[in-house]
Amino acid sequence: MIPIAPVWKEGTQQMSFPILNQDISVDVAIIGGGITGITTAYQLAKAGMKVAVLEARTIGEGSTGFSTGNLYAVPGSEGLHTIEQKWGSAHAKQVVQSRAAAIDFIEARISELNINCGFLHVPWCLFSAHAESASYIKKEREAAERAGLATSDFIPLDLKVNTGFSIANQAQFNPLQYTTELAQRIKSDSCLIFEHTKMLEYKEGEPCLITTDRGKVTASAVVMATHSPKGLYFVHSSMEPYREYAIAVTLTGAYPPNGTYWDMKSKQHYSMRTYDTPRGKVLLVLGEKHKVGTLVHNESCFEKLESFARERFEVESVVYRWAAQQYQPADGLPFIGKSSGSTKTYIATGFSADGLVYGTLAAMIIGDEIMGKPGPWHKTYSASRITPIASATNYIKANASVAYELVKDYLFKDGAKTFSEVAANEGKIIEIKGEKCAVHRDHSGNLSIVSAVCPHMGCIVHWNSSEQSWDCPCHGSRFTTQGEVIEGPAIHALNPLYVL
Ligand code: FES
Repeated sequence: MIPIAPVWKEGTQQMSFPILNQDISVDVAIIGGGITGITTAYQLAKAGMKVAVLEARTIGEGSTGFSTGNLYAVPGSEGLHTIEQKWGSAHAKQVVQSRAAAIDFIEARISELNINCGFLHVPWCLFSAHAESASYIKKEREAAERAGLATSDFIPLDLKVNTGFSIANQAQFNPLQYTTELAQRIKSDSCLIFEHTKMLEYKEGEPCLITTDRGKVTASAVVMATHSPKGLYFVHSSMEPYREYAIAVTLTGAYPPNGTYWDMKSKQHYSMRTYDTPRGKVLLVLGEKHKVGTLVHNESCFEKLESFARERFEVESVVYRWAAQQYQPADGLPFIGKSSGSTKTYIATGFSADGLVYGTLAAMIIGDEIMGKPGPWHKTYSASRITPIASATNYIKANASVAYELVKDYLFKDGAKTFSEVAANEGKIIEIKGEKCAVHRDHSGNLSIVSAVCPHMGCIVHWNSSEQSWDCPCHGSRFTTQGEVIEGPAIHALNPLYVL
């Protein structure tokens, strides 16, 4: 079985950063060392502020290192024409312009700091072999043109295409290499970057106080750059968490030319691109999105991706497989800026599948706001906006789904009654003395038992078999079999109960 790991580590030079080992005071503390956090640190440090980045694991190892490395001006997940319908054409144009500016920003940093991350200009192509997708693709093309993007019929791929278009001069890179090298270039006595330093508590105040497992940090302002902000925030009720899957395969036949290819099938799209690893070229195929915690036997997602690749190319073997999380906002736009009701806390979330572009844009917007000179897009993505019309249907859907999970899980029947029903490498919910327990058996037969109650807001976690994790369907917190937080808004681990 191929272990779960993204392709990006191959070709990324390993770098390490220190662990916080004392109490410190800075102008701005940034929680999270992915592309959003490191780019925000770059912006603020360049303006003369003292900053500290606190990363619970290693730099870029969260969502950034599990992304696709694709950069494009159209908002992919939601669809530009949908944003236009919800927000109007002027707003949709701002979205395209701001996303293009974020890509330019990345390219400028690569050039300024001499970052070697395989950045390439490539076309972005949306197409389908199926007539049922023609209407969606036509609407996307028309919306892209109204937003000022030039489109073309040309799709440089030797596959069956019923309908489609391309936009030239979009980009690709290795996101892990970019983020770690950027961090390496900017670290200094006034731009402190810490790894393996986990936030345990945060209190906004004068100053703000962050308690970590390694020391305390005081700051005048705090940026939550953790994909979904840690703790309790209004925006959690305005987003739905999804997982999407990726494989990298080697081919015996020809590889497609450089490009980002989105092949639509029904309402979903599969994304394809190539990447040159030090051991040779691979083709990346991504797709099979579903809501977090709703698919126990998710190996099928990898199998479907492989079938998809084999139907189109001469696949030799699958060499990598991984999955990534995304938070889809009810009204279609990310939340970037000062959090609702906060005076010193900034958030950056709701990026859907577009975290590299929106993460960079968030750093540009939040950096400007903290420096007291809000730029042209800070209202476009305001984190404290209320959008009853743009988000009504999806907001109701998201919260009905959370309410359902809360009720359904307390009537949970799809678990086990005895430990013997839990096979090796499997997880099941078992009720022990009236308490819902998440029970996992490892390959050697040892059982780990943690509370199944998510410490974020009390939903019951569900088993994720391919990634061997406990996933919360409500707001997307994920935990290891020992209960440690992997990602999501939960700060604390699942309560440990027993190891047998
Ligand atoms: Fe919110 Fe679990 S992530 S309740």
